[in-house]
Amino acid sequence: MSVNQEKEAKAIDLKLLKRLLIFLKPYKKYVVIATILAIVNSAVGPLRPYFTKVAIDNYIAKNDSHGLYWMILAIFGLIVISGLFSFSLNYIMQTVGQKVLLDIRVKLFDHIQKLSLKYFDKNPIGRLVTRVTNDIEGLNELFSSGVVMIVADVLLIIWIIIFMFYTSFELTLITLSVLPFLIATSIIFRKKVRVVFRNIRLNVSKMNSFLNEYFTGIVTIKLFTQEQKQFKDFQEVNEESKDLWVKSVFYYAIFFPIVELLSAVSLGLVLWYTAGNILNEHMTIGILVAFLSYAEMFFRPIRDLTEKYTTMQSAMAASERIFSTLDTEPDIIDESNAIEKNHLESSIEFKNVSFEYDEEKPVLKNISFKVNKGETIAIVGSTGSGKSTIISLLNRFYDIKTGEILIDGINIKNLKQESLHNLIALVMQDVFLFSRDVSLNISMGNEKISKELIEDAAKALGAYDFIMRLNNGFGEEVRERGATLSAGQRQLISFCRAFAYNPDILILDEATSNIDSELELVIENSLEKLFTGRTSIVIAHRLSTIQRADRIIVIHHGEIKEMGTHNELISENGVYAKLYNLQFSNNKLN
Ligand SMILES: Nc1ncnc2c1ncn2[C@@H]1O[C@H](COP(=O)(O)OP(=O)(O)OP(=O)(O)O)[C@@H](O)[C@H]1O
Ligand SMILES: [Mg+2]
Repeated sequence: MSVNQEKEAKAIDLKLLKRLLIFLKPYKKYVVIATILAIVNSAVGPLRPYFTKVAIDNYIAKNDSHGLYWMILAIFGLIVISGLFSFSLNYIMQTVGQKVLLDIRVKLFDHIQKLSLKYFDKNPIGRLVTRVTNDIEGLNELFSSGVVMIVADVLLIIWIIIFMFYTSFELTLITLSVLPFLIATSIIFRKKVRVVFRNIRLNVSKMNSFLNEYFTGIVTIKLFTQEQKQFKDFQEVNEESKDLWVKSVFYYAIFFPIVELLSAVSLGLVLWYTAGNILNEHMTIGILVAFLSYAEMFFRPIRDLTEKYTTMQSAMAASERIFSTLDTEPDIIDESNAIEKNHLESSIEFKNVSFEYDEEKPVLKNISFKVNKGETIAIVGSTGSGKSTIISLLNRFYDIKTGEILIDGINIKNLKQESLHNLIALVMQDVFLFSRDVSLNISMGNEKISKELIEDAAKALGAYDFIMRLNNGFGEEVRERGATLSAGQRQLISFCRAFAYNPDILILDEATSNIDSELELVIENSLEKLFTGRTSIVIAHRLSTIQRADRIIVIHHGEIKEMGTHNELISENGVYAKLYNLQFSNNKLN
């Protein structure tokens, strides 16, 4: 989450609130029950002081022990009812709250994974992680207690005022006389705390991104002995965090005693006014006792509401970010009449394809070539020339505006994306392994790929030996992005993945990393097996791969410069011949 992402949010934004409340719809029944409980419960509380007043004035003062007995029973009943209601209310709302959070999180996750790569290019992973974790967590209080409790608190305040006026008009005015001071204090507190909490949120995301980058780049940091400097930077962020929290504690530490003080002042005023009036029999002791309770009861919901204001506000800020993600439409979607295709029958063709990631920075210019079924095509070119982009387009990771990409004469935009991806196995330049075991990294959880198939793939491609040498063989956990395996081993595993998958089309983005000669031989052999019986497009760096290809496409600055077999291109004496002469002293074309 970047700093400028954090906007000042309103505490109650009706439009946002309305969208949030839609998530409560499946639990309408529970919300209705909880709201009824909250309304009834808010009325039960203020009844107690009133019953006490009746008990004192009507029964104690008149020595009516029978009536008193019933009154005490009634008060006891009120306490039990109120306790039961509070429990049920809390239990229902907390449960509903957690269910709603789960729903939103699932919806958000599902939505994000449907978004196209363009979105992931623009949004750092850290931000997306924050969205699905912290931001959702920010809604917790809103759903679990927020909405219903706010309704209950407001109702409670109204009930208390009604009961107070009913009991004594003058005393109500006296009790409420501190209200202006209370409101002023609340406003100042809210303002101060809002700023602190906003800074705390910024600090948290600062710390998250710092840690994320630090641990990801730990090797580089150690290599350049940057630990000391980084530690200092971390301490700075940490210090800031401490200062902010201390500041927030300070405001709370001032606010609550002030509320207590105001409540005491109003109690004092009530006492002072009543004392004289009781003596000259204008008022009763019952009224005094009831009022002391009311005055105390009155301040609690006001204090709660002030406190909830900050949680509501951060919930609104979080929901704003969540909705902006949910509102991002996936821009690559299947047409309603999209075609299912299970096998390649004749050819893959690029027809006058031009493409740019960012406006006015063309990456591919007018690319046209055809690969017939069973052929192997090698694409070569210098770094940044657009080779990986070509295969991203064939997989429809990005949509093109100019030109067409056809599989058996059908535009890939008219194919179901799932069937397009089933048709093609893609081995990427930088292999990605998941933190699961080796077999799962080969099968990718596809149930059709059995254990035998996984082992056969490993045996066929020469990966079996090194996998069996791992402590747990195929069950060995591949830790964080395969850090415990060598680059060559990671590549072999990704080859096994493609082999077990057995697709009609194989696309391979050969890695340029250097691999020891023994493993190199294994990889060359396994590539041979991978290509057999398939239609392949290979972004090639190995001379062996290039020479084996039926045709070589030479890309330069996003344009096809030459096309032909190795021998043809050498005799043409153009770009390829130059690249070849320059780079093949070490047997690789980089
Ligand atoms: N996701 C992206 N967003 C914006 N620009 C990109 C993106 N991916 C690649 N580019 C740009 O497009 C151009 C072609 O990149 P591409 O990855 O296709 O090159 P390449 O030929 O595969 O290079 P290499 O041999 O180094 O892998 C480069 O200038 C690169 O900066
Ligand atoms: Mg590349």
